[in-house]
Amino acid sequence: MTPRAALIEAAYLLASILFILGLRSLTHPDRARRGMQLAALGMLVAIVGTLLHQDIVSYRWIVAGLALGAVIGYPLGVYVPMTAMPQRIAISHMFGAVAATLVGVAEYHTLGDGAQVGRVEMAALGFEVLFGALTITGSFMAFGKLQELLPSRPVTFPGQNVVSLAIFAAAVALFASLVADPARPAAFYAMVALALAFGGSLVLPIGGADMPVVISLLNSYAGLASAATGFAIGNDVLIIAGALDGASGFVLSIIMSRAMNRSFTNVLFGAFGSPPAAAGKTAEGLTVHAITPEDAAIQLAFARLVIVVPGYGMAVAQAQHQVRELAQLVEKNGGTVLYAIHPVAGRMPGHMNVLLAEADIPYDKLKEMDDVNDQFKNADVALVVGANDVVNPAARTDRSSPIYGMPILNVDEAKQVIVLKRSMRPGFAGIENELFYRDNTAMLFGDAKASLARLVQEIKQL
Ligand code: TAP
Repeated sequence: MTPRAALIEAAYLLASILFILGLRSLTHPDRARRGMQLAALGMLVAIVGTLLHQDIVSYRWIVAGLALGAVIGYPLGVYVPMTAMPQRIAISHMFGAVAATLVGVAEYHTLGDGAQVGRVEMAALGFEVLFGALTITGSFMAFGKLQELLPSRPVTFPGQNVVSLAIFAAAVALFASLVADPARPAAFYAMVALALAFGGSLVLPIGGADMPVVISLLNSYAGLASAATGFAIGNDVLIIAGALDGASGFVLSIIMSRAMNRSFTNVLFGAFGSPPAAAGKTAEGLTVHAITPEDAAIQLAFARLVIVVPGYGMAVAQAQHQVRELAQLVEKNGGTVLYAIHPVAGRMPGHMNVLLAEADIPYDKLKEMDDVNDQFKNADVALVVGANDVVNPAARTDRSSPIYGMPILNVDEAKQVIVLKRSMRPGFAGIENELFYRDNTAMLFGDAKASLARLVQEIKQL
């Protein structure tokens, strides 16, 4: 091994270690930032290692690529708001998948359109372009749905699953035939086209609410495609990073599906998440109790235990700093404030933890659902800040509800529930929430940030 090759391998090893340490650190909120920094450093080391490669004949295109990447990546990182993070991640996956697919296609073409490709290498290349191509269109479709460029409701037609499976089966059949005889460019490009079509048809019937699970699943496909690229071009860091990406994306999809009490099949083929109130009970004849900021402030100011339940609305309103201010006032009066975090509150895993951490709320006050659910019965006030589906009792009792079976936060057991939201509009699952009509629930209508600021002001005047 030449010294240069040894240096590259050392860089790849260091990068892989940094990726693993980065992932490990993401398991706890107070180490999450450090985890991201370690992973980013790992990526830098991997890029530098790759730039040392002796096969590089000219740096011109590479510099152009780096400049273009920086021009696209910097604004994506700095200006995209937290609420748009899922679609940002979807579009990043699409770029990753485009890269993996292009490398696969270029490799096949350079090796005499398959003439100099061995069977094992063809298997790796085929896998790479198959999963890469379906991730391109799947991720783009997920981006379009979340950004509302495409209808976010499930788009279905009769026989859709049969059509999708037929496209996938045809792509897999071409893949198998290419492994038997790699030198068939028409079959190779037809396989790429079919995989692109399959990615789109896979995501089309899935509703916007399920997109985070889909994105995480597509992430694992992109990881598998990268690992296959690593095998095809003999690059160790791609194999390791791709395997980490593939496995973590898959595990995350399972965790999210479990938190919603849904199976993968149900997410992928269940056409859930349509915004209109498609199923579940309606609220006819029930009355809503509105509360004034003055009355809500009195209840909070004299409460012994307040459990804050943050949801997607807190992210939209960017109300996390006002939540902290309010909590400090309650604590100053001798009360205790805890934060109940539902695993799928918001629109992406860890969404609430990240926002609350940004407002310097101590991590030991953030309680996971299973640890806090028993404490609601002791709470004087459950303060629901822009959450809806994750506190909907229909998940426990209403078999006709699309969220039936999803574990929820037991806010209804608190002595008093105060809900901050702007209207009676439903949450992402598109269904009524009977919690809002209960006797111990009071609604404080308005933007969460403005309502919290008002509550802070009122408590200060008491
Ligand atoms: P949602 O059920 O989506 O409810 C959010 C509520 O926030 C809405 O009812 C909305 O009511 C309110 N809101 C919006 N903007 C507001 C503002 N500026 N001020 C005050 N309130 C505001 O949220 P959730 O309870 O967090 O549930 C998350 C949903 O996403 C679940 O259905 C979950 O299954 C789904 N999902 C999440 C994930 C992950 S990983 N987090 C993954 C897949 C699916 P108004 O319009 O009346 O204000």
